Amino acid sequence: MSEIAPIVLNVNGAARHTTALGGDTLLTVIRDQLLLTGAKRGCNQGVCGACTVLVDGRPVRACLSLAGDCQDRRIETIEGLGDRPVMRALQQAFVAAAAFQCGFCTPGMLVAAFALLADSRLPSEADVRRALSGNLCRCTGYKKIVEAVLRAAHALADEAVA
Ligand code: FES
Ligand code: FES
Repeated sequence: MSEIAPIVLNVNGAARHTTALGGDTLLTVIRDQLLLTGAKRGCNQGVCGACTVLVDGRPVRACLSLAGDCQDRRIETIEGLGDRPVMRALQQAFVAAAAFQCGFCTPGMLVAAFALLADSRLPSEADVRRALSGNLCRCTGYKKIVEAVLRAAHALADEAVA
């Protein structure tokens, strides 16, 4: 059985000192130890995408990543992205397009969409569907979510031109 050991994670720009068992996932540590509960524990087996966070700028499933392996990596959760213009545009577009109902999938959707828009400012609908293909929503359906991401992309492009 693995033992509890100290661990240091770089989360949202700050070094966070905590402890973890060798088999603890990143999701367990950020939610249960660091109390960052934006990333959701849905399936806890890599299927639903509700736990999506960024590691070195790329979306990953926190429920499949060992916390110990994420030391020395740059971890960003939904809590740390809220002030970024891309995230603000996404949040406004999700509200405007009514792209959520219960909201359980929304943080994961937003983080995955953030990664897409950070890379590709004017993605096609197919690009958006591909980027969100690993994120499941059980109540809104995907049409409004895709519409919201495209709306955010256009709003950002308009801001850039203005
Ligand atoms: S909780 Fe991680 S993919 Fe579902
Ligand atoms: S809004 Fe409920 S699961 Fe997506």
